[in-house]
Amino acid sequence: MNAEAKQPSPVRPESEPTSAATTVPMWLIAGLLGLLFLGAWYFDARGGWFEAKVYAPYLSLADVQRFQPRTGGPEDVILRGKVLFEQNCALCHNPDGLGKPAQAPPLAGSEWVLAAGVNRLIRIPQLGLSGPIEVKGQVWNLPMAAMGVAYSDDDLAAVLSYIRNAWGNKASIVAGEQVKKVRAELGGRNQPYSPDELKKEAE
Ligand code: HEC
Repeated sequence: MNAEAKQPSPVRPESEPTSAATTVPMWLIAGLLGLLFLGAWYFDARGGWFEAKVYAPYLSLADVQRFQPRTGGPEDVILRGKVLFEQNCALCHNPDGLGKPAQAPPLAGSEWVLAAGVNRLIRIPQLGLSGPIEVKGQVWNLPMAAMGVAYSDDDLAAVLSYIRNAWGNKASIVAGEQVKKVRAELGGRNQPYSPDELKKEAE
């Protein structure tokens, strides 16, 4: 007798590969659908999306706004002020209005910018500032030149309207007429104000 033939097969018959069709389990389908849903939700929530108002040939919302018909309303004044601000003030005060350490104090949330009246505020870019100034609890003492002296009344009003209404600031629009009045009061003065002297003026 052959001794090998007596050995039981090491492969158990029930673990033989089969070719019969088996159904995909329900839990797998449900799980995959769940993952797909989570993925879509995550993409929707975190994808950032696009600004729906921006389409070719415009590249940004600011671009779209620039080409809107002008109404002369407050939005236009603020938009004009933004352009002027970015050209002449942002270098020191930063485009986000938060100022720069050892260069310029913040305008966002500044009590000087948000004052109820604009009598003091107009004088700052018109003549410049020198001397210690407290802004949001921090003291600064750096000179600011008369950055707004060359502006027309309307342009100075626009840049101030912008800083009063940007970065979460909310205050009244400044009118060209208000700038004109303050300029007339200043006469020929060209010396910068010190913040202490400014405080003696009505707000
Ligand atoms: C060369 C840098 C520089 C530029 C450009 C500049 N500023 Fe200033 N600004 C300063 C500094 C420095 C002070 C603080 C002055 C001080 O210490 O007395 C200041 C203070 C101010 C303040 C009062 C304090 C506050 O933070 O609210 C206002 C308002 C202001 N600037 C507006 C403007 C506007 C508007 C423009 C553009 C037309 C402008 N600045 C351009 C440097 C600058």
